[in-house]
Amino acid sequence: MLERMLSFYIFVFVSFTAVVFQCDGAPVVYTITYQQYTTVQIGWTQQQVTQNIGSAGNLVSQTGTGNTAITIIKYTGSQSPLAVATFLFQGGYLFSKTQVGLDTTVYTITLAQYTAIEIRWTRDQATKLVGSAGCNASEAGTANTAMIIVQYKAAGTTFGIVTLGFVGGKIVSKSEIGFATTVSNKINLLQYNTIQIGWTQQQVTTLLGGSGTIVSQAGTQAAVTFLFLGGILSTKSQSGLDTGIYTMTYQQFTTIEIGWTRDQVTNVVGSAGCNGSEGGSGNTAVIVVRFTAAGAAFGNADLTFINGKLTAKTGIGYFLTISNKITLQQYNTIQLGWTQQQVTALLGGSGTLISQSGVQGSTSQTSIVLYTGGASSSASALITFQGGIVYSKTQANLDTGVYMITQQQFASLQIGWTRDQVTQFIGNAGNVASEAGTGNVAAVNVQYKVVGTVIGTVNLIFSGGKLYIKTGFGFK
Ligand SMILES: *[C@@H]1O[C@H](CO)[C@@H](O)[C@H](O)[C@H]1NC(C)=O
Ligand SMILES: *[C@@H]1O[C@H](CO)[C@@H](O)[C@H](O)[C@H]1NC(C)=O
Repeated sequence: MLERMLSFYIFVFVSFTAVVFQCDGAPVVYTITYQQYTTVQIGWTQQQVTQNIGSAGNLVSQTGTGNTAITIIKYTGSQSPLAVATFLFQGGYLFSKTQVGLDTTVYTITLAQYTAIEIRWTRDQATKLVGSAGCNASEAGTANTAMIIVQYKAAGTTFGIVTLGFVGGKIVSKSEIGFATTVSNKINLLQYNTIQIGWTQQQVTTLLGGSGTIVSQAGTQAAVTFLFLGGILSTKSQSGLDTGIYTMTYQQFTTIEIGWTRDQVTNVVGSAGCNGSEGGSGNTAVIVVRFTAAGAAFGNADLTFINGKLTAKTGIGYFLTISNKITLQQYNTIQLGWTQQQVTALLGGSGTLISQSGVQGSTSQTSIVLYTGGASSSASALITFQGGIVYSKTQANLDTGVYMITQQQFASLQIGWTRDQVTQFIGNAGNVASEAGTGNVAAVNVQYKVVGTVIGTVNLIFSGGKLYIKTGFGFK
């Protein structure tokens, strides 16, 4: 089961990687035709793939050793630099392949067809209904565990896409982006509040006077989403439908405590906030309540209540009004394991509380605190405390040093090398973006810029002092 989940995770990861690389636009080096792509079969060795395509492709990422080694290779379309093919090898054998833009045929699907398609249908059933087989965007696994993601263009939309997920030849998921904008079923706040978790889809449809639409819009800013599981409403969420103004000051945000009831929070803040989303019932009822951050242009405070008690609070945007600063030297001085008091004393301020969860004062309480860089407005550091102790630290743009790596060096790096070996090989220690844990479980993320590229970036993750994952993108 775990293996299956891992495989699916990797599969999704590769699909995602392909999208990222679409923006790359780097000069064409390793090319592939659509015909070559379709010829390559799941289960082939890396050598077979190289031989068939005529080049080894760009190494994007490599991790693990032996049977668990995972290698990701990328090619650019021979017709268009925006077309990309990505291959993922597990233990030396092709596990999944993904393409974007290589198949230039346009496969169209209408909203009525999309609605009619049912989970558990075969590919043939879907093809017959729609009139075309769609584009094989990603494929992984074989026989019973074969996964395939098929895409169609949503008819009557500019960028609309319908995605069908097949496992073992049957549809397991369907989703669409773009049709929703053409749907005209309206909902108002009163109707939204009337709809209760546990209602059947029929009850919802009857109340709203519209059928067959799960996503609905009212006005331009508001959006409502209902999620049905087994035909029963399991969650509802809205944004922009409730136009009331609920403001929370930063002081109120820091005062309210994990474990408080909704009434206690309402008493301190002076308003109940906006019910953003609701799911479950009784003991497992979850509700996310949103307030506007006072003094911030776009800030929010989101409070999560489970079974009526505050379990997490997250503030975004308050930092616009707070001026707690940190320098690179201070950041480097802070050590994992320091108390929050030590950090506050060093920096001369308690930073901006971004998020908090877990019981107040307990060892499970987690707080994320933001400090901003004095030198540049884009520089910042996030310190995560667990039970009042620094658990991890992350910085962005605080270290303005230039750390370069060549593509050749990246390709030569071996999984399992120590940090010192890597530093010596590359000639510099890189930008330490984040650190967490100590000893065997220590994780460090080091970043480099790639020589001769505009946006080329390499991320190295060390676990317990050894190179564990290497990832690169934006190569020439
Ligand atoms: C798409 O995938 C299906 C199922 O694996 C396969 O039968 C078909 O040949 C593929 N089509 C193309 C064009 O590769
Ligand atoms: C928001 O949620 C709470 C708790 O479920 C409920 O008591 C209240 O009536 C809701 N408010 C609105 C405006 O729907």
